[in-house]
Amino acid sequence: MKYLFTLTLCLLSISILAQTKVTLHTDKAETQINRNIYGHFAEHLGRCIYDGIFVGENSDIPNTNGVRNDIIEALKNLNIPNLRWPGGCFADTYHWKEAIGPKDQRKAIENLSWGNYREDNSFGTHEFLDMCELLEAEPYLAVNMNSGTVQEAVDWVQYTNHQNGTSYLTDMREENGRSTPWNVKYWGIGNESWDCGGHMTVDYYINLYKRYATAMTSYFNTEGLFRIAVGPGFPDYNWTEKLMQEIPARRFEGISLHHYAVNWDHRSSSYDFNDEEYFDILSRAWFMEEFITKNSEVMDKYDSAKRVALIVDEWGGWYDPDTSGNGALYQQNTIRDAMIAGITLNIFNNHADRVRMANLAQTVNVLQAIALTKGESMILTPTYHVMEMYKVHQDATLVPSEVETREFKLGDKQIQAISVSASIDKSEKMHISITNIDNKNGQELEINLNTFKAKKVSGRILSSAKVQDYNSFDNPTKVSPEEFKDAKLNGSSLVVSLPPHSVVVLELVK
Ligand code: AHR
Repeated sequence: MKYLFTLTLCLLSISILAQTKVTLHTDKAETQINRNIYGHFAEHLGRCIYDGIFVGENSDIPNTNGVRNDIIEALKNLNIPNLRWPGGCFADTYHWKEAIGPKDQRKAIENLSWGNYREDNSFGTHEFLDMCELLEAEPYLAVNMNSGTVQEAVDWVQYTNHQNGTSYLTDMREENGRSTPWNVKYWGIGNESWDCGGHMTVDYYINLYKRYATAMTSYFNTEGLFRIAVGPGFPDYNWTEKLMQEIPARRFEGISLHHYAVNWDHRSSSYDFNDEEYFDILSRAWFMEEFITKNSEVMDKYDSAKRVALIVDEWGGWYDPDTSGNGALYQQNTIRDAMIAGITLNIFNNHADRVRMANLAQTVNVLQAIALTKGESMILTPTYHVMEMYKVHQDATLVPSEVETREFKLGDKQIQAISVSASIDKSEKMHISITNIDNKNGQELEINLNTFKAKKVSGRILSSAKVQDYNSFDNPTKVSPEEFKDAKLNGSSLVVSLPPHSVVVLELVK
């Protein structure tokens, strides 16, 4: 009887250990995870730019050239690699020349995309590019291809990038206080041209794109611009195929994708959601894997060398907006958002051969923000903490992984419970990021480290009692990373015990 009991216990613990098996192919680690995958997006929308990022030089809120110091510090701590601006749909009607020069002479505009409110244009090209310099982040400008002109785009490149004295535009830049060019590399030509960017067909878009891409630099692109064509925001692989077939190789360096975890027929509350709504949003977040895989397959047919990058320049969770006066598309950010960030960043890392930039939507006070502000106060969201924990992957070498995991089930539906990615950095440390989206069950993982001879493991975890938990202005640190102690080395394996709905990042040292 005693023997039977011990045997049952043994079998039980083996089956627990076998819940998820991960194999790390350390012998195949060769692709660099481009740090630009950890990029952000800031649009003139609600309180993202005005109030959230930019309060103006005369504000009582501590600032540097009008940009909130708390936001600067938070973004620097993420090692923010790049920032996309000014939209989004806002970019589709934006005229950059109205927002340069003395502030009291700038034309006020109506924000046609997001509620028709008035903006004084005090945050324009100089303010954005100077802020990027301060953040040491690459600027990524979205060109107005809808209500704008090719000439306006050509002028923008000259104004921002060309040497002094080359034209009236660089003279104007100097008069406005900036003599040296900023050398903006990343240029998005259009935004959602199949929707707010002009409801174009793919053929119309391609013809127009070619005019922009040819004129926006010298004929041979000697300025080295990285031009990004608008790709699909839904599973229209024909759009991608046409771009690959018809745009000459010399005229584009990237294709954008947009994918939000959103249910347009039923937008749940950002913090008061049930199990069905939780499961539904996480299934939509997982669709990113299929979306990238299928777009990559199309691109591989024409570009097996993977010259053209996939740029996921809008991603994140999108819920029922809060209407309590916090600005358009303001939403709370819970453990559910941490789960979206955890699996999405792992997907990007694992597709590092093709995905070379991504931009979380949006930085402050809008959609899946990394920070929320209220007057002088600022709080960091669970999503911020995931981005901060995962920053160890920036520019590290991807270790391909294979995951055999239990499914996360709801009724007769099921999705993958565990998501993993791993990389080795310049100092030979390995980092493994693991997300368990199952909100009911913990997970036992056995990770085969292959040739990596680890001597020490340490880690951090982000979780909370409920998936609905968030940081508020009254309790700003409720969801914060903590030390993780449930990872044990066992020869060439690592045994990890994960609680429900948790994100863990482990560091292994040889
Ligand atoms: O991020 C909010 C909006 O979502 C962007 O303006 C647009 O490009 C997308 O539809």
